[in-house]
Amino acid sequence: MKKYGPETFGELNADEYDLLHNPGTTDAAIDLLSEFALPGRTLELAIGTGRVALPMAARGCRIEGIEASPLMVEKLREKPGGQDIPVTVGDMSEVRAEGDFDFIFLIFNTLYNLTSQAAQVKCFRNAAAMLAPGGAFLIEAFVPDLSQFHDHRSVKPRHVSFGALALEAAVHDPVTQRIDYQVLRVTSEGTRLTPLPMRYAWPQETDLMAQLAGLELESRWGGWDKCAFTADSRMHISVYRKPA
Ligand SMILES: C[S@@+](CC[C@H](N)C(=O)[O-])C[C@H]1O[C@@H](n2cnc3c(N)ncnc32)[C@H](O)[C@@H]1O
Repeated sequence: MKKYGPETFGELNADEYDLLHNPGTTDAAIDLLSEFALPGRTLELAIGTGRVALPMAARGCRIEGIEASPLMVEKLREKPGGQDIPVTVGDMSEVRAEGDFDFIFLIFNTLYNLTSQAAQVKCFRNAAAMLAPGGAFLIEAFVPDLSQFHDHRSVKPRHVSFGALALEAAVHDPVTQRIDYQVLRVTSEGTRLTPLPMRYAWPQETDLMAQLAGLELESRWGGWDKCAFTADSRMHISVYRKPA
């Protein structure tokens, strides 16, 4: 099987991304992100098809992106305003956009698309290097729920109907914190596999990654509405600040 690389997400998902990847929190995310972004210079790591960046630009945010997948960038370019957003194509743990940014963000669990701790630390360091003194780095990521795994494995039917079946399957390695995840779709037209390997990090581990990169935790919320982060939170939004 072909190796999963930084461009693979786009190769497998670009065509249907906007149709299938709607977390239902986009408006609330745009409100909070715009608060941080205005009036400075902003960079979205893994900008994708511009789900969030385009509405932010429409609100007057000066936003740029880094994105590994040329196919995702193509989808961004096809949308109104999509030609106007500068995008650097490359791996967000390595590639740099030019100049300093006042605000950088990485959302929708995409930190976990970097499948080793070393790559995630590199990403924090890379973001910190592109931040102006006093700038902020925001991440949104799920808090792992390991109760779904039995014997480190999980299978969940996502859709079952007369003519179609979609199953989610995952194998968890607690040593590396890696989850190998697949969605299997079966219809009369055939079967389709959509793999997504990820490596989760606990919020306190991301705090350490930030510290290694010279950033300090400023805020943590349990949702885009700034609700408190508690033991029951299923996701976190964390803001790290570079000293002025
Ligand atoms: C879940 S999508 C999020 C896209 C967008 N940020 C959003 O919220 O809709 C993940 C994105 O990360 C990109 N990606 C994955 N690994 C990457 C990497 N190492 N460097 C840059 N982009 C990457 C994928 O191509 C995809 O566009």
